[in-house]
Amino acid sequence: GKVGIIGVPFEKGQRKKGVAHGPQVIRAARLVQELELLGLDVKDYGDISYEVKHVDGVNNMSYLGDFAGCTSCLSEQVQKVLKEGRRVLTIGGDHSLGVGSIDGHVKEKKDVAVIWVDAHADLNTNKTSESGNVHGMPVALLTSELADYWPHLPGMDWQQPMLSIRNVAYIGLRSIDRYERLVIEKFGITAFGMEDVERYGIHDVVYMALSKIDPDESKSLHVSFDIDSLDPLEAPCTGTPVRGGLSLREAVHLMEIVCRSNRLNALDFVELNPHIGSQHDVQLTVEAAIHIIQAGFGYSRRGLKVPKGITD
Ligand code: ARG
Ligand code: MN
Ligand code: MN
Ligand code: MN
Repeated sequence: GKVGIIGVPFEKGQRKKGVAHGPQVIRAARLVQELELLGLDVKDYGDISYEVKHVDGVNNMSYLGDFAGCTSCLSEQVQKVLKEGRRVLTIGGDHSLGVGSIDGHVKEKKDVAVIWVDAHADLNTNKTSESGNVHGMPVALLTSELADYWPHLPGMDWQQPMLSIRNVAYIGLRSIDRYERLVIEKFGITAFGMEDVERYGIHDVVYMALSKIDPDESKSLHVSFDIDSLDPLEAPCTGTPVRGGLSLREAVHLMEIVCRSNRLNALDFVELNPHIGSQHDVQLTVEAAIHIIQAGFGYSRRGLKVPKGITD
């Protein structure tokens, strides 16, 4: 298997400094080497560099020009990596980057299903958001059913919402804004919150999610993993922590199942902020990140197989 890594040091989708350093600390934790141990051909494309688009602002949407510049560049880069026959690992940065990575994935593979692993639904528009932070809006920007709810967004003309909300499933929700709940109910969005994880267990939740968004087992899968889906006891370094989240074990199991489908072509890993918490907190959170990413690309807790040719 071949994997391409893209770093996205973007933090203007929210207000806390530090999440832009996510790619740097995750790479420093030997990300490339750990993936190579799985027998993968890994190419690190480095961090994206983008130009801010100088556009008129839009009400209640902070840093639109920065966001538009970053995500349009990321979309191009994701398409390029997929064209080179590699699965894509995008490391953030805040969750607004999902607009670029998923747009690029859909442009390249057309039939895409997304698992959005998050404490939050990230389903606000500029009219419903209480924060004005774009990292709370990516799902609403990506999905065609929600296109009518947006004003014209200068700088975002390259991005056409081509993903149906029926192809998106949430796992891990536990902090949903009022209007987000309204939208989830109106469109019947596949949404498994922590109470569902409690009730059915993570194993059944992942299979139920996949059977809803990809019943024929034919789509290209995209996992957009927000580290705040984890319980803050296991991953404290994130800007919008919510208690009562997934254990690392549940997150790893989720990724193992998706990996075994053999259709995971893109993984986003976002919202790790190494400027939040103590040094020990950062170590804990970065270790969790590495375990989750490894599980997505084939690490087995049962141990790795001996490479072909050595046993005989
Ligand atoms: N719902 C809140 C908002 O819209 C929080 C969003 C948090 N998003 C995230 N990617 N951590 O501002
Ligand atoms: Mn900084
Ligand atoms: Mn998120
Ligand atoms: Mn979140």
